[in-house]
Amino acid sequence: MCGIVGYIGSKDVKNILLNGLEKMEYRGYDSAGIGVRNEQEVKVFKEKGRIKDLTEKVDMDFASTAGIGHTRWATHGVPNVKNAHPHQSTDKRFTLVHNGVIENYEQIKGTYIPEVELVSSTDSEIIVEIIAKFAAEGMTTEEAFTKTLDLLHGSYAIGLLDEEEPEVIYSAKNKSPLLLGKGKGFNVITSDAIAMLKETNEFVELMDREIVLLKKDEIIIKDALGKEIKRESFIAEINESEVEKGTYDHFMLKEINDQPATMRKIIQEYQDKDENLKIDGAVIDQLKSSDRIYIIAAGTSYHAGLIGKEYFEKWAGVPTEVHVASEFVYNTPLLSEKPLFIFISQSGETADSRAVLVDVKKQGHKSLTVTNVPGSTLAREADETLILHAGPEIAVASTKAYTAQIAVLSILAQVTARELGKDTEINLMRELAKVTTAITAVIDDAPEIEQIVNEYLETTRNAFFIGRTMDYYVGVEGALKLKEISYIQAEGFAGGELKHGTIALIEENTPVFALATQERVNLNIRGNAQEVEARGAKVCMVSMEGMDQEGDTYVIPQVHEMLTPLVSVVVYQLIAYYAALHRGNDVDKPRNLAKSVTVE
Ligand code: F6R
Repeated sequence: MCGIVGYIGSKDVKNILLNGLEKMEYRGYDSAGIGVRNEQEVKVFKEKGRIKDLTEKVDMDFASTAGIGHTRWATHGVPNVKNAHPHQSTDKRFTLVHNGVIENYEQIKGTYIPEVELVSSTDSEIIVEIIAKFAAEGMTTEEAFTKTLDLLHGSYAIGLLDEEEPEVIYSAKNKSPLLLGKGKGFNVITSDAIAMLKETNEFVELMDREIVLLKKDEIIIKDALGKEIKRESFIAEINESEVEKGTYDHFMLKEINDQPATMRKIIQEYQDKDENLKIDGAVIDQLKSSDRIYIIAAGTSYHAGLIGKEYFEKWAGVPTEVHVASEFVYNTPLLSEKPLFIFISQSGETADSRAVLVDVKKQGHKSLTVTNVPGSTLAREADETLILHAGPEIAVASTKAYTAQIAVLSILAQVTARELGKDTEINLMRELAKVTTAITAVIDDAPEIEQIVNEYLETTRNAFFIGRTMDYYVGVEGALKLKEISYIQAEGFAGGELKHGTIALIEENTPVFALATQERVNLNIRGNAQEVEARGAKVCMVSMEGMDQEGDTYVIPQVHEMLTPLVSVVVYQLIAYYAALHRGNDVDKPRNLAKSVTVE
């Protein structure tokens, strides 16, 4: 949801910024811009669309060694050049990039700069105008910047250039992510470490409401009261090759293919030398002392949470509720006496989930974040964290993070069961190893799965996904994957529920994907499939070895029935991938979306 970068040093900055923005395009790709400076002046280049469109507009002959950049996912104002960042003050002295949302922008515009005619319809432009106003009244830039930040309600990560101070980039954050990168003879700011890995892998965290004076050879961090802070740096353990597509056409396909390796990594990370499941003691204490788990998440992570609930309840016997984060904030249910909140988030930055975490912490409840990004906001702010070890996920549509979330939740639930003295009669690590082999088999069948797309989805406008129990949850995830990248209207339903209304939508040849991997409901879901088939639907039956019947369209290898989502979802991921590909869509960057949703 917007990404910012900044660099000050001695190398030419334009390509550093453009490369960085390209790596962060997953955060938004409506428009982009850079502001670069030499000793005399700042030049701004902006364009609607992708970074490659912006690159064509940049004057590559303008030599500069300091600059800021922005890639946008529009919140206020349509995606166009005027609304693209950087924004400049009317006097052209200040140039600013902003990631976040300023909630009180209309009010402070009215109070502080009523006379200023804004160029854009963004909430960001007022920040640069107010800084300019305070500076014109005689404040130093640092004073003007600090005073302006004090007025802002909302979230921000900011990079600011002052034409009169060529040796500094000012920066600050509140609620939006921002890291400071350290180099020899240069320093950077970035919303995500991956954008600057080419330059450095040494980063310093910035906390909310701190401000930074970024210089070529020095990073000065100050708290909100202006007191200087010293903070240790850390090395980001990301390999640059992990953020490249390699030989794959798309990141999504690469990440689908990464899933067996991710499973192996999780098995390795969550077992001790005696091959027993291993979870940090503090996390276990949290679970043992709770009477109810509340899983909070959004989108695909919410769907993983639905599977997690099955594990906690069926294996560990701990009552578990799963909630959509954006609803929970405003419609909190009655809580149990000793709740534990588990936040599931690939990015660890989702604003809806963070809003719940902030609330939960205020009330003194325990919290655990399950995330792919160590050091992310949700990881830092929760009491405890479990890492997914899936490696960077770049495609907007989440795939390997979803299966990693389910695998980690299964381990957590198993360890909880063990600690509570429950016998679950499953050797989880052995079963997860079988899952790894089964996922590989499905991936190897990609050409066959592409044929399913040819047969069922080439011309359709809509599709339905049905299943019962865990297969229902996988269906909801399959529908989300399909709609977000192929733009086919798709919905997931509990098999028994269609006939209570939605079956009216079934027409001749409407595709219905039915999943049958659960013995207990195998016959029921097949009955539901027949109901829609009798009304003209074209049913694609996906089942599992041992439960399959003559005529099933695709059969996944047999795995433990509690772990089937880890394998069956891969079929749906590939279906979504090929459906989007056949329609000529941008698979990795579907329209209107961004990967890291940092606004509520
Ligand atoms: C869909 C998808 C989203 C995310 C959701 C939450 O493919 O990726 O639905 O799952 O935006 O994001 P995280 O997991 O980063 O909190």
